[in-house]
Amino acid sequence: MAAVENTKRTATLNTGAEIPIIGLGTWQSAPNEVYQAVLSALKAGYRHIDTALAYGNEAEVGAAIRDSGVPRPEIWVTTKLDNPWHKRVPEGIDSSLASLGLDYVDLYLMHWPSSTRPDDLSAHHEGWNYVDTWREMQKLVGTGKVRNIGVSNFGITHLETLLADPECKVVPAVNQIELHPGNPSPKLVAYNTSKGIHSTGYSCLGSTNSPLYTNPTLLGIAESKGRTPQQVLLMWGLQKGWSVIPKSVSEGRIKGNFDVDGWDLSAEEVAQIDAIPDRFKVCGDAWLPIRVFFGDDE
Ligand SMILES: NC(=O)c1ccc[n+]([C@@H]2O[C@H](COP(=O)([O-])OP(=O)(O)OC[C@H]3O[C@@H](n4cnc5c(N)ncnc54)[C@H](OP(=O)(O)O)[C@@H]3O)[C@@H](O)[C@H]2O)c1
Repeated sequence: MAAVENTKRTATLNTGAEIPIIGLGTWQSAPNEVYQAVLSALKAGYRHIDTALAYGNEAEVGAAIRDSGVPRPEIWVTTKLDNPWHKRVPEGIDSSLASLGLDYVDLYLMHWPSSTRPDDLSAHHEGWNYVDTWREMQKLVGTGKVRNIGVSNFGITHLETLLADPECKVVPAVNQIELHPGNPSPKLVAYNTSKGIHSTGYSCLGSTNSPLYTNPTLLGIAESKGRTPQQVLLMWGLQKGWSVIPKSVSEGRIKGNFDVDGWDLSAEEVAQIDAIPDRFKVCGDAWLPIRVFFGDDE
């Protein structure tokens, strides 16, 4: 594979929109640190920022986007509908736009296929599920408030149900899912691709205190290439065909994670990372009122 300029590369979604394949993640980036992180990322050349109502930091993310000096049309902004807002989709997007201080987002994702009751976070709405939520999200297309809509944490079962439903008029543009060598989900990625749904990999470094940072296979490849383990993990994801959204609040790491131009992994190195046997998940069913993961993604 020829070395490419990944930092300029985009993936074409089923709407025709071009999503930059590297974004800055902001989960667990505290409001007092995320403003600077987003500014640093935009200065380093990132043009894709991933946030969510649930992260509680949309206001600072939006302020940094507005203060960055980078023209708004050049930045891809993703935010997400929080679970307790499934029956209040118009209010959900309005809340996010007000916090962000933006007129529109490039991508609005249903954060989880879980319609949680706002009055009891341990309970699921009766008689309402993610298909109903999607029906409401579809109405946002055309309002000018969202350019693209998609889903997150959807398994094959959820997508099959959604796509087969007569209410489903818009195929999700993106499915944002946990993707790293400890949770590679090849069947789910292949299913997304077969339906024209772009995969974005979250927790692409293995998240906070990543167990991947001590993996001997990864460390060996990183050392032999003179790269950081994080750069190798990101390149692995890019070469597998999904976009990546590494989170950092450190300016040095934000820059380092974007240093993915002009080199690549050999097919053998990709295969070695594919063969890492240890499995772990960062985001599980624990805080949801219903089961979402069924272990059928690989
Ligand atoms: N849709 C969903 O349900 C969902 C779920 C989880 C995550 N996400 C999205 O995906 C993004 C990424 O996932 P994530 O936040 O779970 O984890 P991640 O990006 O896999 O890893 C972030 C962790 O790695 C550290 N890190 C980053 N770059 C590093 C480097 N070069 N060297 C050493 N450590 C480094 C960060 O610490 P520092 O900040 O201190 O550098 C942080 O502790 C999130 O921020 C969020 O936007 C979405």
